[in-house]
Amino acid sequence: MARKSMTLIALVSRALAFPAWVNEDVMARALSSTNSAWTEGLRQLSLQDPLGVSRGESNCGIIPCPSFDEKDAFVSITGEHEYMAPTESDIRGPCPGLNAAANHGYLPRNGIASIEQTVAGLGALYNLGPTLTTALAVYAVLITGNPLEGVWSIGGPLPTDPLTSALLGNGQGLSYSHNNYEGDASIGRNDIYLGGGDAHSLNVTKFEHAYSVGGDEDRYTMDKFRQHFGSVQQESIATNPYYFSGGAFGPFIVVPAAYNFVINLMSNHSAEEPSGYLDGYNFKSFFGITGEPGNFKWQRGQERVPENWYRRSSARPYDIEDIPIDALIGYLGYPNTLLLGGNTGTVNSFTGVDFNDLTGGVLNAQTLFEGNNFACFTYQLLEQGIPNFSTGLLNDLKPITDLLNSAIGPFLGGLSCPQFGQFNTGIFDHFPGHSYSPTGPDTNY
Ligand code: HEM
Repeated sequence: MARKSMTLIALVSRALAFPAWVNEDVMARALSSTNSAWTEGLRQLSLQDPLGVSRGESNCGIIPCPSFDEKDAFVSITGEHEYMAPTESDIRGPCPGLNAAANHGYLPRNGIASIEQTVAGLGALYNLGPTLTTALAVYAVLITGNPLEGVWSIGGPLPTDPLTSALLGNGQGLSYSHNNYEGDASIGRNDIYLGGGDAHSLNVTKFEHAYSVGGDEDRYTMDKFRQHFGSVQQESIATNPYYFSGGAFGPFIVVPAAYNFVINLMSNHSAEEPSGYLDGYNFKSFFGITGEPGNFKWQRGQERVPENWYRRSSARPYDIEDIPIDALIGYLGYPNTLLLGGNTGTVNSFTGVDFNDLTGGVLNAQTLFEGNNFACFTYQLLEQGIPNFSTGLLNDLKPITDLLNSAIGPFLGGLSCPQFGQFNTGIFDHFPGHSYSPTGPDTNY
């Protein structure tokens, strides 16, 4: 990168008051790979106008995707990637992106994947970046998978493994990872209390509400989905006495991130719209929905990659820095969606807790948004969510925890994060939704 360009990047970055971690490296990566659409996108961005930033964000992120390259964006859905519905013994779960990947053989069709298979498969299908994918997969292996074998389940429980079960219990899969990975106020899944323990099956009425956000123009955007997230949260507060949005990676980051994933990863791409567009046709296909509004049907386990669908550009993978950027833009643009707390056993009883109390005085609601703090907080939630395995096991698990450190370490190392102690999650004890944890029906999907 020429020196002159770096200076320009620094100036533009400062003038637009980006969060500090949208640093010169991120900019340089974008600039080296894109064209004038990049500067046009930048013009629209300013954290001094958070709503404007949210409204201006493309379906490919704050830095629009470069021009469309059909060969690069092509995704095979024939041959080994032909769509096949899961068999009875296969596993599917709460994540339509993973279910579709397994139905097309981008993840193992049985729904149980290693970290390497996850990185390769989701990279090929969606251009989900390797660092983020590693972090998400490692977290899944450690909190809900089989850490001794290094695999995880995209839905229901893993097959019993006598060795692992004896030491660590049997991995319950994403479907039963409530408050660690899965959380309330999802796009299409029930809050776990309202679903009687089932938070992985699609609620068609909920999907229909999300679908209506596309409006007459039949287009879904980051901003529309951020507003919709606020509506779903309010609906949860008004209907679910156990609604909980606590200080853990799942409820606080993964749930809003899933809204952003729909736009960033399920959008179709074309020469006319290189940053992508999402319409009802593509949205329905990825969510396994057939029919029209009023008579939608969810075909359980049948999420599929649409015909003629092109993924985001490999010049702009969706990676580790994009999660906190998009969550931050959402929380700044729509501050009422920044909910840390829960209902206290009756509907409409939402009580918030202080970031100050959670972080032992390291951050408060104000400083959370200063400098790199939000990105630091995001990945601190992930790290602190990982169970403290007994020391005898640590050696066996070291390769996996090393993988996590090597994935997120360099990113966090560049941020000069404040020193966090163990988060004080005891402040959530009086919320019934914090401890509510039914095992749910023991089904594969
Ligand atoms: C290793 C990678 C991934 C993991 C571990 C993962 C995990 C999860 C989990 C735990 C949920 C439930 C969250 C909730 O309660 O709302 C979820 C939901 C969701 N995920 Fe993923 N996911 C991954 C990749 C993807 C990808 C690549 C996409 C998009 C292409 C995606 C799109 C979604 C969507 C749209 C939802 C919300 C579904 C709904 O509420 O109906 N995810 N994912």
